[in-house]
Amino acid sequence: MKLSVIGCGYLGAVHAASMAELGHDVIGIDIDQSKIDALAAGKAPFFEPGLPEILTSATATGRLRFSTDLADAAGSQVHFIAVGTPQKKGSYAADLTYVNAALDGLLPYLSEGDLVVGKSTVPVGTATDLAATIAASGTGAMLAWNPEFLREGFAVQDTISPDRLVYGLPPEPGQAEASKALLDGVYETALGKDTPLVVTDYATAELVKVSANAFLATKISFINAMAEIAEVTGADVTQLSTAIGLDDRIGWKFLKAGVGFGGGCLPKDIRAFTARAEELGRGESVAFLKEVDAINLRRRQRVVDLAVEALGGQVNGKKISVLGLAFKPHSDDIRDSPALDVAVQLKGLGANVVATDPEAIHTASRVHPQLTYEADPAVALRDADLVVLVTEWDEFRHMDPAWARQLVKAATIIDGRNTLDAAAWRAAGWTYIGLGRP
Ligand code: UGA
Repeated sequence: MKLSVIGCGYLGAVHAASMAELGHDVIGIDIDQSKIDALAAGKAPFFEPGLPEILTSATATGRLRFSTDLADAAGSQVHFIAVGTPQKKGSYAADLTYVNAALDGLLPYLSEGDLVVGKSTVPVGTATDLAATIAASGTGAMLAWNPEFLREGFAVQDTISPDRLVYGLPPEPGQAEASKALLDGVYETALGKDTPLVVTDYATAELVKVSANAFLATKISFINAMAEIAEVTGADVTQLSTAIGLDDRIGWKFLKAGVGFGGGCLPKDIRAFTARAEELGRGESVAFLKEVDAINLRRRQRVVDLAVEALGGQVNGKKISVLGLAFKPHSDDIRDSPALDVAVQLKGLGANVVATDPEAIHTASRVHPQLTYEADPAVALRDADLVVLVTEWDEFRHMDPAWARQLVKAATIIDGRNTLDAAAWRAAGWTYIGLGRP
């Protein structure tokens, strides 16, 4: 099928390349010329395992092209809107400027029977407004909402083999049937592998996305709240999560206590959901999400406080080696990263922060040039007065404590992800400090 993807950021670039990989004829469109040039040359503008490979193979077949001109969307049957919905400045609400601009720019190129598919994460009610805009345009095009559940670091795999598909279809039965048929064509491969499909109205599809992220954020903050209790009782939150996770109604996933969640989705999505619920007069229903956010931010402060304590209150001029900058491993994304936040706060307290990360130094140094960055962990660790692990890259998880011990000045480590073998590190002579564990 002929598809267009408007917006070639994280979501759009991966979606465009994956759809071409599945055999569709795809045009990816973005206003950013440098991004389009990179993508057309088979280069991913961000670190995502597997993306460069499918960009290269799909562009070579001629099935994947990129452009800055929305006119190139003309002739596609399905048009995905995959632009960003950042947090509005000075407010918790989502900024829909890019979504509205994408649709307005696309309207002149839509034909009778075309399907516009929303993939961006939006406040509930947006799709109905966009459908009205399309109807008023007289183009005869339709709108469906098809949220995306990809995880950074696994984005290609999650797009090609999703764990579920959700179609939010138009209220008019004829349009619903035609939209579903088009989406079934797009997702033929996944549907052929019995991927579960949930067909809903617009509002439900929009809510599936935000409520899924709200649930994940809540699960993380729940265990981090237990870590706070563990810290004053001497309990061990890692054992607690193992024990409660054995109940398969609860499960272990997203039950890992640490410095908390970050990234371009969870933090902004729970805030936008709160703002939207308040607009709808249902602020109380999701008031707990403010607490989820607050618990999450307190964990970052906790790591900073532990660092100050470990240094005996004397932070100024001390060398702190920070292991990790990305908001999670397998990513160079530093948006709302707890790791980078901790590094910046420690620097603000006068520490000589030397940060290392396998992929995120280039993204972090653009935003925070005041930190010192070092690609080689051995150099970052040398003569450190304190080590703080904040992103659980395998390189750090599997670090030999005896080797690291030889490099540092003082063998104290704060494990902000509760990911190291505490006994092994202590046996190698380290003072090991976890979050919510003795
Ligand atoms: C999240 C969702 O997991 C995806 O399903 C969704 O599609 C995506 O947002 C989106 O809205 O586009 P992502 O932001 O890539 O995906 O990251 P996650 O894997 O969800 O991790 C989020 C944060 O939670 C990370 O900072 C991670 O370190 C933290 N986390 C995760 C914990 O602190 N503890 C855990 O147990 C799990």
